[in-house]
Amino acid sequence: MKKNALSALARRTTLPAISWLMHSALTRPKLISLAAGFTDNATLPVEISRQLLNEILSAPKTGQPALQYGITAGESNLRQLTARHLQKLDGADDRAHSPDRVLITGGSQQLLYMTLEALCDEGDVVLVEDPTYFVFLSILQSQGIRARGVRLDRDGIDLGHLEKVLARLKKSGQLRRVKAIYLVTYFQNPTGVTTSFAKKRGVLALLKKFERAAGHPIYLIEDAAYRELRFAHVAAVYDRRLSDGTMEVRRSQTAATNCLEKSALMVPGAGRNVIYTGTYSKPYAPGARVGFGVLPEPLFTAVQRIKGNHDFGTANLLQQLLARALETGLYDRHVAKIQRRYRQKARVMKQALAEHFPPDVEIWEAGGGLYFWARLPQNVSTGIQSIIFRTALKHNVLYVPGEICYADEPSRAKPDHEMRISFGSASERDIREGIKRLGAVLKKLVK
Ligand SMILES: Cc1ncc(COP(=O)(O)O)c(C=O)c1O
Repeated sequence: MKKNALSALARRTTLPAISWLMHSALTRPKLISLAAGFTDNATLPVEISRQLLNEILSAPKTGQPALQYGITAGESNLRQLTARHLQKLDGADDRAHSPDRVLITGGSQQLLYMTLEALCDEGDVVLVEDPTYFVFLSILQSQGIRARGVRLDRDGIDLGHLEKVLARLKKSGQLRRVKAIYLVTYFQNPTGVTTSFAKKRGVLALLKKFERAAGHPIYLIEDAAYRELRFAHVAAVYDRRLSDGTMEVRRSQTAATNCLEKSALMVPGAGRNVIYTGTYSKPYAPGARVGFGVLPEPLFTAVQRIKGNHDFGTANLLQQLLARALETGLYDRHVAKIQRRYRQKARVMKQALAEHFPPDVEIWEAGGGLYFWARLPQNVSTGIQSIIFRTALKHNVLYVPGEICYADEPSRAKPDHEMRISFGSASERDIREGIKRLGAVLKKLVK
């Protein structure tokens, strides 16, 4: 007799690190969380949302449909506005992104989950950046999908390594199990790296090359969650504190065009192989939790059907709210405001890091998003069980240990000497204080 009747999936699913991190951030009032990927509280669009919801609910004609169930694929106005929004971001002409391929979801997280359900069986392989978005790794683990890491350069995935990984999988007869590569292409979570358009083209060319041996298309899942959180003209720079205390500043080659990189949807002939996922959570409000995707057939239909079983449609009221924000231009105005806000908060964090972190910590600074990536000397552990993590917690400051962002990759040991530090939700004061506390811990323990 078994102890319980849980499914294999339930048994595989451990407590996602994200739940623990968010719980700590919300339940320990003295804790300064530089961990959670929460957005800035002070700039959440409370007034705009009140005004727009008032308009929607001011008359039965607009209020009733908003409070009713909707269509599984999403409200048609929002699908059109989303297609237009993407065209604008991609600097494309009107026909480039068809609303017929746009699916509206309960956050992009739901879309990522359903896409994997539609693509993968247990034992299949998905390639990921090394490191990557740790919640995506949790989904893979839960669904019994194997993650294989590909090295990350400062302008995106290392194409040479990707080719090697694919060739190795081919040689070992596992290419048939490879279904997709997952890239967080703008201001990546956790490193802040932005993938250049040239790299996206290179990735797609490699996938094409190996497709025949795989016996099926291999998809590029482009997760663009942070695309709009760019600090406009702020270049991506790579700063490194030298041992004499001075800063070495290297501008990445893609810096000037960082915020203008086009999505993989714009690679000629790529439509069939690209799954693009985006979100209104980060640029507007995570509490409204509306995401979207552009999917090729037959995936669009498959995911739509799966969504039919999940929830047969994202909350209509929230979709109407986003549609109205986009239509009225209030969305764009809000995004411009938060870009300024994050630029300022990133500046504060950068200054605090320069002041308080020991000199041999390498800092990766992005031109957008919510994160700095700090690399300690290789022999220093930052993991959940490490003395650094536990001492930091004792001093009421929390970061994301780098190790949870790495796949269980058999060909290498998991690096555990890095940390993701977020300036998203903490106030400027808490950013300064949190980095000061963390810096003091590091100065004491990094030898
Ligand atoms: C890289 C990445 N993708 C997707 C998501 C999911 O966002 P949402 O479900 O709110 O759209 C997040 C959230 O932090 C993220 O960091």
